[in-house]
Amino acid sequence: MQGAQAARSQATPLLEVRGCTMEFPGVKALDNVSFTLMPGECHALVGENGAGKSTLSKCIIGENRMTAGELYIDGQSVKLQGYSIRESQERKIAIVHQEFQLMADMSGLENIFVGHYQTRGGFINWKKLEKHARKLLDFLQCDVDLSVPVKNLRTAEQQIIQLTKALLNEPKVLILDELTAVLQEKDIQNIFRIIGILKERGIGVIYISHRLDEVFSCCDSYTVLCDGRHVGSGRVCDIDKAQLIKMIIGRELTNVYPPINENLGEVVLELQHLTAPKAFTDISLTVRAGEVVGLAGLLGAGKTELVNAIFGNHKIVSGKVLLHGQEVHIHSPRQAIRMGMGIVPDERRRLGLNMLFDIKDNTTLPNLDQFRRLGIFQDLEAEARAAFDVNEKMNLKYYSLWQTVKKLSGGNQQKVVIAKWMLRDCDIFLLDEPTRGIDIGAKFEIYTLIHQLAEAGKAVILVSPEMEELIGLCNRIYILFEGKLMDHVEGERKTQEVIINSLLGVNEHE
Ligand SMILES: Nc1ncnc2c1ncn2[C@@H]1O[C@H](COP(=O)(O)OP(=O)(O)OP(=O)(O)O)[C@@H](O)[C@H]1O
Ligand SMILES: [Mg+2]
Repeated sequence: MQGAQAARSQATPLLEVRGCTMEFPGVKALDNVSFTLMPGECHALVGENGAGKSTLSKCIIGENRMTAGELYIDGQSVKLQGYSIRESQERKIAIVHQEFQLMADMSGLENIFVGHYQTRGGFINWKKLEKHARKLLDFLQCDVDLSVPVKNLRTAEQQIIQLTKALLNEPKVLILDELTAVLQEKDIQNIFRIIGILKERGIGVIYISHRLDEVFSCCDSYTVLCDGRHVGSGRVCDIDKAQLIKMIIGRELTNVYPPINENLGEVVLELQHLTAPKAFTDISLTVRAGEVVGLAGLLGAGKTELVNAIFGNHKIVSGKVLLHGQEVHIHSPRQAIRMGMGIVPDERRRLGLNMLFDIKDNTTLPNLDQFRRLGIFQDLEAEARAAFDVNEKMNLKYYSLWQTVKKLSGGNQQKVVIAKWMLRDCDIFLLDEPTRGIDIGAKFEIYTLIHQLAEAGKAVILVSPEMEELIGLCNRIYILFEGKLMDHVEGERKTQEVIINSLLGVNEHE
């Protein structure tokens, strides 16, 4: 072991960043950050939302230009003037971006090879390309339909397409910016396996994630960033999770989950035998005022479709939806909002935010009626104050309420979607993975907000891939398996073991 370590310390780093500083107009996103990546090493880059992780990745691949600093690839100094994405590709650095970079209407195959088509006599040999892509997918042990437009694929499948594209050029350095944020446990294990193989081949991986358990499962070393500054680096085996959390948020984290509200009112939302073909079948459930009801299930179990169906965004063929005991027919999100529902959707970039609008407008637009005086005058000050308060509560990293959301970090964009709905006085909140991509400190702020909603008598449906989160926050949990309700747990049965069995389709009564 010592020999291996000595060998590693003598090897030339694949990548070395020294004193990287990067300024956007008015924002110093990175301030004198240094780190080193050795061959066969998986290096975690962690820090709160807006800490500068994605910005640093983009400096490494030449998408952002460092304001100051040095970059060494394979021991060679890189001339930063003119360093571009093309050059980083030539030097075998690849990235899977945090934001989707796929062309929605093009097929998986086209997306993988776009920019890398080899033509012969002006013709593209699609058969050859498909064979090449299949080989990569076999290596990943994934089976994805490459012929349909990627917009018709599941999020996890789209991620696999992005990963395949990144591997196409046989990279020496692979940057994974929150690749697992949208994946489920089984797929994450597969990613760890793939990282293991890449490491054996001497490839270096930069691994960005807010799920710290993952850092301990697959990373050898870490660097913590805070507000663009370098807080510390070291080997993962020398620290524990509590120490890492303290480095990230600057304090210890105690009392993770607020108490569950037991003071429940009448049934607010009831589903009776709800069915949507290819999505879910015969779903019946109830949610009471003050209750947080969880939805658990593996990828493809139908959770997102169910939430969207309740919100009028997915067609139902049979069954009933009752609000306060009255049957309702909701055909559009607009109708759902009018009936007192709010949603934090699964895919926030497309559904949750208007990228061209500023933070204030994104937070207050669906809520303008709340800031009207005498029914006609818009109280702009109250509007800005409310937007400020709710975003501050979630520790949003921004410099002005009037900056466009496009320039916020991924996690901070998500906080704005949540802020928007928290501000609205809804009766029913549908939260589809609200803490995805959110840093560990802000996660607990969101838990507190969910608790406050329940205390205020709201009905909440919470979808989460994290079992611990569901158990910690929900009064009851419904478990879906392949579109059917498998089980429904509360009280003493609300344990990881019971839930996992149902998630996998194993019924303990059988
Ligand atoms: N194009 C841009 N223009 C201006 N500021 C930007 C731009 N992109 C990022 N920033 C700012 O740079 C800072 C760092 O953002 P970055 O996206 O690197 O954070 P991050 O660590 O990746 O966060 P997250 O965990 O939320 O993804 C943030 O304050 C962000 O608002
Ligand atoms: Mg980021």
